[in-house]
Amino acid sequence: MPASKPSDPRIAPADAAGIARAAAMLREGRPVALPTETVYGLAADAARADAVAAIYRTKGRPDFNPLIVHVPDLDGARAIAIFDARAEKLAAAFWPGPLTLVLPLREGAGIAPAVTAGLSTIALRCPAHPVMRAVLEASGLRLAAPSANRSGAISPTRAEHVAASLGEGLDLIVDGGAARAGLESTIVALRNLGDEPAGWQLLRPGPIDPEAIAALLGEPPIPLADQRIEAPGQLASHYAPGKPLRLGAVAADADEWLIGFGNVVGDDTLSASGDLAEAAANLYAALHRADASDHARIAIAPVPMGGMGDAINDRLKRAAA
Ligand code: TXA
Ligand code: MG
Repeated sequence: MPASKPSDPRIAPADAAGIARAAAMLREGRPVALPTETVYGLAADAARADAVAAIYRTKGRPDFNPLIVHVPDLDGARAIAIFDARAEKLAAAFWPGPLTLVLPLREGAGIAPAVTAGLSTIALRCPAHPVMRAVLEASGLRLAAPSANRSGAISPTRAEHVAASLGEGLDLIVDGGAARAGLESTIVALRNLGDEPAGWQLLRPGPIDPEAIAALLGEPPIPLADQRIEAPGQLASHYAPGKPLRLGAVAADADEWLIGFGNVVGDDTLSASGDLAEAAANLYAALHRADASDHARIAIAPVPMGGMGDAINDRLKRAAA
């Protein structure tokens, strides 16, 4: 176990005072780290170029990477993007929750151009986490929020992860406890040809099962094969710890910190009972602990595909690249 550090003065409880302070800072155009049901987000006013620039600066993120905008409800989303029957169906089924929709950006939506990085589409999510929802309501803002980690590093599922990853330019982290899902939202892009619907793509696997999306939309996704990279979560190396990571390990080699799963027992485990939802919720915290350990390398047990297993293996592949 890493030695416990004194708690960071930037971390505030998610009580009425913490939520009011977060809303006030956001209205001043300052970024604030907030809990969501997937991972912690680094939020700022999506309408203000200076506030969005502060997100990019704090994360050290390359500016071609567009951000997800969080809205309190469906009406808020309809004011920003063009919703067709498919989008309405998905929102009705999965919002509030861990689904991000990539849709055509509405003209005059008042979103800072840096949010979409010049694309004609926008990524929207209506989150379910009560603290994120309370801050959306108290601020009255639409909040752009990428995961609250330095660009390319492991995503944060606890307030302490944010504090360890982000330094200057961040003054408030609202502590909502451990993120329930533990993996970033499922991203679905609804494609059009002219004004006609033309299929959908799974840009990032996540907590929402793509089979359920296919069933609702009545068609399988269009493969991503030849597409230029639109979701930089798709870059080969992403979500990466600072040490070499070996996948599919059943035992630790010398100097390896082994993260177990099911029957593979290690220095730590994603889920001793082999539960995939538990493993997803634990994944990033386990990688943070492995990074902080005194071992030079990390090894991780095999995690089966299927359901959340697809999303976990997607993140592991990128973390090891
Ligand atoms: O669960 C989540 O989605 C978390 C929480 C904080 O909501 N947010 C998150 O944001 O993971 P971020 O910025 O780390 O990932 C956003 C992803 C990126 O891969 C980005 O490229 C993609 O969404 N994206 C954003 N706008 C897009 C667009 N218009 N077209 C395609 N991809 C887009
Ligand atoms: Mg991220």
